[in-house]
Amino acid sequence: MNKNPNEPKLLDHEADGIKELDNNLPRWWVWMFYLCILYAAGYLGYYHVFNMGDLQAAEYAKESALGEKIKAEAIGKFESGLATLTPSKELAVLSEGQATYTTLCAPCHRPDGGGLVGPNLCDDYWIHGTNYVDILKTIINGVPEKGMLTWRGVLKPNEIQAVASYIHTFRGTTPPNPKPREDQAGPEKPNIFE
Ligand code: HEC
Repeated sequence: MNKNPNEPKLLDHEADGIKELDNNLPRWWVWMFYLCILYAAGYLGYYHVFNMGDLQAAEYAKESALGEKIKAEAIGKFESGLATLTPSKELAVLSEGQATYTTLCAPCHRPDGGGLVGPNLCDDYWIHGTNYVDILKTIINGVPEKGMLTWRGVLKPNEIQAVASYIHTFRGTTPPNPKPREDQAGPEKPNIFE
């Protein structure tokens, strides 16, 4: 290295008249470089030698488990409070419900609720009960053996509430060529929650 740190050294090679200077690196830069090496040593020790910190995969698993726990708690709370829920009439909630319905439910229930693979959601005849809480329960638990998916864990509680509220607005509408009614549940029972 050159004696004087401020004086660049002219290297002895040359190409087409172009020479190269070996500039000295600024001190601050060199110190940053040493700090990086120190940091890397610490990092290596912390994560890979003494295994004190979680690596990416472990951290991901931890965060996911936490997320699942929060979701399960929210759904549990929602389900235990089911009986007190009533269909929302707020436009924002209904339009959120409509968006969910259009993407996830309409392929089986038809955009107008007239029924396709899934039953008609407009008439007064329901397989799994006619009041709002019955609808919520059917959406949450699904009827997997009959082709109705279980939405618990897929949709968040407020999304289930929104889509059920939206479905509730189908009641009494008369879409063209509806699926024939299902007689199992009989005419609408009074909904004690409304
Ligand atoms: C893959 C097709 C399919 C999709 C997607 C689907 N359903 Fe269903 N759904 C069904 C079927 C089939 C039934 C009838 C189940 C039975 O016969 O017991 C049903 C039943 C229902 C019922 C009860 C109807 C009654 O008569 O009691 C509700 C409410 C319902 N679905 C809501 C929804 C909602 C909300 C979504 C979207 C989040 C959805 N479904 C998505 C197929 C589907």
